[in-house]
Amino acid sequence: MSGVNEIRSTFLKFFADNGHEIVSSSPLVPRNDPTLMFTNAGMVQFKNVFTGVEKRHYQRATTSQKCVRAGGKHNDLDNVGYTARHLTFFEMLGNFSFGDYFKERAIELAWKLITKEFALKKDKLLVTVYHTDDDAAALWKKIAGFTDDRIIRIPTSDNFWAMGDTGPCGPCSEIFIDRGEHIWGGPPGSPEEDGDRFLEFWNLVFMQFEQVTPEQRLDLPRPSIDTGMGLERMASILQGVESVFETDTFRHLVEAAASALGQGPGKDNIASYRVIADHLRASSFLISDGVLPSNEGRGYVLRRIMRRAMRHAQLLGASEPLMHRLVWALVREMGQAYPELVRAEKMIEETLQQEETRFRKTLDRGLAILDEKSAGLKKGDMFDGDTAFTLYDTYGFPLDLTQDALRSRGIGVDLVSFDDAMERQRQKARASWVGSGDTASEAIWFPLREKLGATEFLGYETETAEGVVGALVRDGAAVDQLKPGESGAIVLNQTPFYAESGGQVGDLGVMLGEGVRVRVTDTQKKAGDLFVHLGTVEQGTLKAGMALQLDVDHGRRSSIRAHHSATHILHEALRQVLGDHIAQRGSLVAPDRLRFDFVHQKPITPEELARVEDIANNVVLENDEVTTRLMGVDEAREAGARALFGEKYGDEVRVVSMGKTAREHGQNALGWSVELCGGTHVRRTGDIGLISVTSESAVASGVRRIEALTGNYARKHANDAMQLAKNAASELRAPLEEMPARIAALMDERKKLERELSDARKKLAMGGGVTGTFLTSEAPDTADFRGQVGDGIILVGEVRFFRRSVSGIEMKDLKSLADEGKRLVGSGVVAIVNTAGDGKAGVVVGVTSDLTARYNAVDLVRVASEALGGKGGGGRPDMAQAGGPDGAKANAALAAIEKAMAGA
Ligand code: SER
Repeated sequence: MSGVNEIRSTFLKFFADNGHEIVSSSPLVPRNDPTLMFTNAGMVQFKNVFTGVEKRHYQRATTSQKCVRAGGKHNDLDNVGYTARHLTFFEMLGNFSFGDYFKERAIELAWKLITKEFALKKDKLLVTVYHTDDDAAALWKKIAGFTDDRIIRIPTSDNFWAMGDTGPCGPCSEIFIDRGEHIWGGPPGSPEEDGDRFLEFWNLVFMQFEQVTPEQRLDLPRPSIDTGMGLERMASILQGVESVFETDTFRHLVEAAASALGQGPGKDNIASYRVIADHLRASSFLISDGVLPSNEGRGYVLRRIMRRAMRHAQLLGASEPLMHRLVWALVREMGQAYPELVRAEKMIEETLQQEETRFRKTLDRGLAILDEKSAGLKKGDMFDGDTAFTLYDTYGFPLDLTQDALRSRGIGVDLVSFDDAMERQRQKARASWVGSGDTASEAIWFPLREKLGATEFLGYETETAEGVVGALVRDGAAVDQLKPGESGAIVLNQTPFYAESGGQVGDLGVMLGEGVRVRVTDTQKKAGDLFVHLGTVEQGTLKAGMALQLDVDHGRRSSIRAHHSATHILHEALRQVLGDHIAQRGSLVAPDRLRFDFVHQKPITPEELARVEDIANNVVLENDEVTTRLMGVDEAREAGARALFGEKYGDEVRVVSMGKTAREHGQNALGWSVELCGGTHVRRTGDIGLISVTSESAVASGVRRIEALTGNYARKHANDAMQLAKNAASELRAPLEEMPARIAALMDERKKLERELSDARKKLAMGGGVTGTFLTSEAPDTADFRGQVGDGIILVGEVRFFRRSVSGIEMKDLKSLADEGKRLVGSGVVAIVNTAGDGKAGVVVGVTSDLTARYNAVDLVRVASEALGGKGGGGRPDMAQAGGPDGAKANAALAAIEKAMAGA
């Protein structure tokens, strides 16, 4: 029993047999602690259980926890490769009691495991206790039978364990093994304690307090236990080797590196192999937990680790990127215990290869400068900080890489001039934002950005996390607090809230702290990468420095993801149907809809749109995984990723790909749709559910817009449409499928009826009767036309006057009626007033050609128009028309014409 995998399972089984729940490792990026860079101990995931805030269904637990100690309070990066025991990534085996057993049982269990299960020799072991912890000392005496000289009292923080500046903490007791005189080093507390002879392998923390602020320490509700054993250290002990790097896992990783390089390690370069093996583990586990290399925060620590390894690969003479060629070996060693490694294997390989390819472009030149500038230096000298800054700024050498490169020669780096150079560069940046022309209210964000650094976005991986309030802004000015009911902007060190960009709207949700509740109403990005949460304090007083639980509105975000992924799919589907000229011009990705604008010269036909929708939904049904890679912009474009025209991208971009059909058709190696995108996406295309295009329109010359819905929104939209159709069918009392034919038949019939109605009205108008109205003064007394033309004609003097008041006739038909009237009278004047449905009237006056010298139709129609309350009128002497608002005066209008004729 001494392989790493076996030791891990023996430990877990031992504690499971003793009533502990086996709990999986939590991710390396802590979800429940805003102050921690990385999970650095097994107890991190239980932090709130210790303080009593969170309840679990067990009171005892055991874990094998992934840990990284680099870049935070616990930083071992600089030592890795040069000591026998330091690692950036390691596994911590632990047992935990949440208010269940305390010191005595913890020591009993530990003693039994190491002396019985692991069979360590008692006379090689010794322990430390916190100098005031008499209980622990007495218990070790009783349980292990140690004499006082084997129980060393330590007064320093080494024996008072704290996870970070705040959180649960307590005195601790560490167990050491003496590895023999042949190794240099002394017992803990002695001047030689840093040597490797006495190896600490297990830390038992007696959790008793909670550090609330740096000044305030409270008792925990119930004393608890947190222990941490370094798995790799225990393996080195049980395997009888002097260094963690000689244990089975590391041996295999070093062998993989040796075979990739075509040369084995020697005395001079073994440290480089060890750095590579350790950093391969740290990088791979971080990438599999969603951290990607960047220039800030966690991503920068990852980059430092990666580049440090890459420099050592270079030292070993690697002519090609090396790290990505070792991932398979790590997956073989650790994939069974950590399946996330298997799942992310490809992503890890690509990220490592990408970073190494990029870094190698400047590495040689940087190393040449480093060699040249340090050539005259000797042990104890200082390397110029300005040059170290140039290496950092221009050649991508993190400071610790330069320090590492000079370390073997005993040369340090002048940090004062390095910091000066850094400050000068900041001032330059400041000068450029002061002159950037932003409005005063916007200018506040730049100094905040400089003070707080970029906000770390956790929202690709999680929708809940904790964050610390870095700044509060109200009415354009920084404030210390926001009171209940007040609204303002909240900046945190990290956040799962997506800030509006790339067409995707900002997240909403809530922030909770002690007695504080904030409703987040929008999230925006300012000064490049500062995430600004706009919100209202609903309860309590929000203060700068507070730690808050951050919860993104999950349902809304899920729907946004679906709409964003659907936008990518529609983009590619449009390109396939309409052609390669399709280029994105803008988009909106909201929880309840999406909009996509693109270059295309003509309307899209319904058939084309149906094909786009079919293709898009086939990709949804494939349910393929959506993958994200980090790539250089140029590489991404070369790989066929679509970018937004005219958009500025950073050096590195996220590349989102989905869909597999085209991979099979060999169109694009990365996926069917490949786009540069910083947005949030579904895990698999099937999560979109359904894509339904609801409209197609023009937004500008040569730019079309489609709007679409996904998931439940698409389904509801379709259901609503179906319900409308069903309602219509039931109105028509026809089966749904007969609706189109029925509606067409109804429309035909309506047209026919309209025609008939119009004809009937004309006939009635000309023949008098129901719609034609007789005037009371009518005296059709001229025998020779009586009976020919019927009623409605009078003589004005000797002139025949045909007049009608009608209703419901189309204005355009009035003139033809007047012509008809002229034909009937032969010689005379015709006037027809038509009252429309809205009460207004139109009037047409016709004068037969023999009488135009005597009567002008235009004059007569004006007279009528005046009577109808209108003005003017126009036409020719033989035919004119006018209108007026008062249709009730139709008869008065005709009488006015008659009067005018008599007077003429
Ligand atoms: N938290 C303690 C440590 O990390 C014991 O698990 O050493």
